[in-house]
Amino acid sequence: MAKKTSVLATGGAGFIGSHVVVELVDAGYDVVIIDNFENAATDVLQRIARITGTEVPTYAADVRDRELVRHVLGRHGIDVVIHLAGKKAVGESVAEPLMYYDANIGGGIALLEAMGAEGVGKLVFSSSATVYGPGDAPMDESHPVGPSNPYGRTKLMLEEVINDAVLAGKISVALSLRYFNPVGAHRSGLIGENPRAVPNNLFPFVAQTAAGWHDRVRVFGDDYGTPDGTGVRDYIHVVDLARGHVAGVAHLLSGRMQRGHERLNLGTGRGHSVKEVLAEFSRQCGFEVPHEIVARRPGDVAACVANPQRAEHLLGWRAERSFEEMCADHWAFQRAVLRQEAEPAA
Ligand code: WQD
Repeated sequence: MAKKTSVLATGGAGFIGSHVVVELVDAGYDVVIIDNFENAATDVLQRIARITGTEVPTYAADVRDRELVRHVLGRHGIDVVIHLAGKKAVGESVAEPLMYYDANIGGGIALLEAMGAEGVGKLVFSSSATVYGPGDAPMDESHPVGPSNPYGRTKLMLEEVINDAVLAGKISVALSLRYFNPVGAHRSGLIGENPRAVPNNLFPFVAQTAAGWHDRVRVFGDDYGTPDGTGVRDYIHVVDLARGHVAGVAHLLSGRMQRGHERLNLGTGRGHSVKEVLAEFSRQCGFEVPHEIVARRPGDVAACVANPQRAEHLLGWRAERSFEEMCADHWAFQRAVLRQEAEPAA
């Protein structure tokens, strides 16, 4: 029987990573995980197995361990690497920039060296819309970059490192996927965003407030130049985002891209405001989610929405799940966390 294509997912036990692993397994790939479990619960592996019926080989390790990464690449005959491991809290990155440069840039360089040493040439990198400078209209990949925090700068810098690694022939092809705002959860309620600390992001905070974990949502300003004055973002369902990675892997395997590095926006192309998020969660949970207008959060922009046409054209991928589904699935996962159990896998 022909060998199945093998994919290594670094950070595969995290919020995005676990959804990417589920979609890869469902698409017929052999998958291996490397995760240091700094920001992931170990029971996520059992939850992935319940959803997919597959035990995914997992190494509890850090991508900076070059020898371990080389061992995994060789032992499993990895064909493509999806690099999701990294630190992603904007506020923390401002307070601890060196930790972010070490983890995100150091980790990326170690991975690229291991890939070069083992002759693994195909990479999908988890980048972010925070590489862009401000802009109220939908952004395509030519929008000027201008990250406003160390986290965003690590993403942009690693894109450049990857670009130079491709130009030097250390790896052959790479896609940097620039995520807009990933939200929602797998329909089973088994995997989703369950941050250990109080979340900074809107969706998990609204869901936790609806669940009674906080007394109210603080709306960071209602005086932006947006239709209702509150911040507008391009929320994308995490399952759509995960399927964008599967489409990216298929694109790299297709041979359509012999050499080079593409940056692609993964978003829906539609924006929703804070007030719209609150209204939809209130509708879903059957009561008004308590909230209060407070001062703007430093560093926030009015709007950040994708023009996703390049990803749609190159990958034949587009986000399919509605804003309502994002809120429903996020709320269902929050309830499942509350019950400490989840509905049987779909
Ligand atoms: C969304 C909107 C806030 C919380 C961040 C990271 C980015 C990416 C996605 C990794 C804004 C408002 C929020 C709250 C609020 N992560 N808000 N009250 O800032 O667009 O992006 O997450 O790649 O790197 O920066 O997302 O969810 O924090 O904010 O009013 O308690 O909700 O002002 O308008 P953001 P967010």
